[in-house]
Amino acid sequence: MSIRHIVLYPHKALTTAAQPIESFDDQLHQLVDDLAETMYNAHGIGIAANQIDVLQRVTVIDTGKENGPGLLELINPRVVESEGSTKSSEGCLSFPQLTVDVKRASEVAVEYQDRDGQEQRIEASGLLAIALQHEIDHLDGIVFTERIGPIKKKLALKKYRKLLEEQANA
Ligand code: CO
Repeated sequence: MSIRHIVLYPHKALTTAAQPIESFDDQLHQLVDDLAETMYNAHGIGIAANQIDVLQRVTVIDTGKENGPGLLELINPRVVESEGSTKSSEGCLSFPQLTVDVKRASEVAVEYQDRDGQEQRIEASGLLAIALQHEIDHLDGIVFTERIGPIKKKLALKKYRKLLEEQANA
């Protein structure tokens, strides 16, 4: 296992759709393990392969034991049902320190494959539902600032550039 470098917006991998996984081999297992280690090291609750510049449809999520099942490893995940609407403050490891209010479905059903290629399904609400939608968006090359209106997006990106500048000068 190793901690991988997380790319920051506007890196091209973040706005490029990832390719489906077809081989459930050692290389995939290594990627899944690296994603989990990288996520925990960065204190995130989810990370998609795009964020380490790997364009494959793999994401891991851990919203904690109170909000979900613990570590979830999702290969080729897709939202198959969604219901309701909720707005919450989201962060993203590829946008350090930026938070954005994003409106999403409040409940989702997601189908995916596990690391051995077995079909799985999970139904989620609350924080886990939001994390699932955020990470699956990453696999489609969609970052959270694409999920808000154009004026809010402009303000959020302006704030983000300022945060990056402050971090560079710190
Ligand atoms: Co993110």
